[in-house]
Amino acid sequence: MDQNGLKLAAAAAALQYIEDDTIIGVGTGSTVNFFIAELLKVKHRIKAAVSSSEASSKLLRAGGVEVMELNDAGTLSLYVDGADEVTANLAMIKGGGAALTREKIVAAASKIFICIADESKLVQVLGTFPLPVEVIPMARSFVARELVKLGGHPEWRVREIDGVMKPVITDNGNWILDVHGLKITDPVAVETIINQITGVLTNGLFARRGANVLLLATSDGVKTIV
Ligand code: 5RP
Repeated sequence: MDQNGLKLAAAAAALQYIEDDTIIGVGTGSTVNFFIAELLKVKHRIKAAVSSSEASSKLLRAGGVEVMELNDAGTLSLYVDGADEVTANLAMIKGGGAALTREKIVAAASKIFICIADESKLVQVLGTFPLPVEVIPMARSFVARELVKLGGHPEWRVREIDGVMKPVITDNGNWILDVHGLKITDPVAVETIINQITGVLTNGLFARRGANVLLLATSDGVKTIV
């Protein structure tokens, strides 16, 4: 099975966790896009969704799912999202799609976090994937210097628009530093330390509130790790 087939298998397996007539949290990314496609087939079962990005909200609304503000939704029964890296202890690096802050908020407001991933995302030690850090724009250079003191190599995330390199702007109007070179053996400690740097909105370590369930799609089927 190719990687898209694995993503679809993990996404489809998450449907079994949905309780009827509840509001669910929906994450961001290519794996979640498969989840949204599967969710639309059973959309009558849920009351509404809270989404972690404008991109996912657009897909959900286009498919006829009501998208609510988290402030109006209360505690969510479930949050389904992907990961850039995940350990067997269910700590993750997220934010490859620049949605980390809203992802962390929706995850925090949910009873259960289901991580959906293909087997390429499973790692023993987090940090090969550069750790995304969302920063308030005026603090970018200061935060970058602080991250260097922690042993990282921050890189300002940019993308090409009409032939010109421009900073990636998050849904919250901020910038992303991708931190290379961190070997994160204590994810809870690193998450806490980076969040203490003034000017950091969030970092992409999800260890203090990791996933409750990992649905890991492998060539031998979808494994459930709790
Ligand atoms: C977006 C995320 C995504 O969950 C993460 O990047 C995984 O994406 P994909 O499913 O496309 O590999 O954190 O901010």
